[in-house]
Amino acid sequence: MTEVIRDVASLRMLQASWRRAGESVGLVPTMGALHAGHMALVNAAREECRHVIATIFVNPTQFGPTEDLNAYPDTFDADLQLLRDNEVDVCFAPMRELMYPDGFATTVKVAGLTEPLCGATRPGHFDGVTQVVAKLLNLGAADRAYFGQKDWQQLAVVRQMVRDLNFPTEIIGVPTVRANDGLALSSRNAYLSAAEREIAPSLNRIIRNAAAQIARGHGAAGVCEAAAHELIKAGFQSVDYLECRDAKTLQQAERPAKGTARVFVAAKLGKARLIDNVSVG
Ligand code: PAJ
Repeated sequence: MTEVIRDVASLRMLQASWRRAGESVGLVPTMGALHAGHMALVNAAREECRHVIATIFVNPTQFGPTEDLNAYPDTFDADLQLLRDNEVDVCFAPMRELMYPDGFATTVKVAGLTEPLCGATRPGHFDGVTQVVAKLLNLGAADRAYFGQKDWQQLAVVRQMVRDLNFPTEIIGVPTVRANDGLALSSRNAYLSAAEREIAPSLNRIIRNAAAQIARGHGAAGVCEAAAHELIKAGFQSVDYLECRDAKTLQQAERPAKGTARVFVAAKLGKARLIDNVSVG
């Protein structure tokens, strides 16, 4: 039975009893609107840890002033059912005042990795992510925490923060879960109309083609520019970025060695901003 916890004291008490028993804990941070992608993280945690804590908190500090914070889907009852079906021990769902009480003044900033891609098009976004993930890692007191490769840059930034600040939690990356047509599952897919949902899979198809061409030796800059045009032709309104970068450093990669780089994309379709990434070679 999944227990819903909204305060720190109850969470600490439960963790202390698990620690005394020498039982491991896996943490799965989410913003809710849960789907099979989130459940892949939960399942990975369940396989490797005795207890699983999933967190649901729509973190305001990682949304820009013109972004979708107020429209972000809230499906708490269905989320809880999904966590129950997947044998999660605890759903930690704190109120905003608990996470950011009056007078809250601390930020965590990772340099370098936060600058390109989503860092360039969503200024301040990753500062909000590291701020809340630092808190959630401290609150979760977990042996391992699970993050999706769909948000590759977020995973890289969290890994860097954990390494730099010696968080005792191991960060595990979980492969992207996709619909049959290739579209990466995302809470934001709920914003798509039926017609847009038909267009959306071209995002994955086009970056897979681009990655294949780069793997065959074509220069990345030219391939990515052509792929961005294809996205617009397919019906996307705009492309925030479509770039080939080193998988670890996120530096631009023009002719990467096999398996060292990824093609990253963010593009707008209707009310949704969709992101995806695939390996080159
Ligand atoms: P959210 O978008 O809810 O995603 C929570 C976790 O699920 C992230 O690690 C994300 O990468 C992973 N995820 C989402 N869709 C996935 C898919 N199709 N396949 C595999 N994993 C997927 O990412 C956030 O929330 C927030 O930034 C958070 C880390 C919770 C901090 O607020």
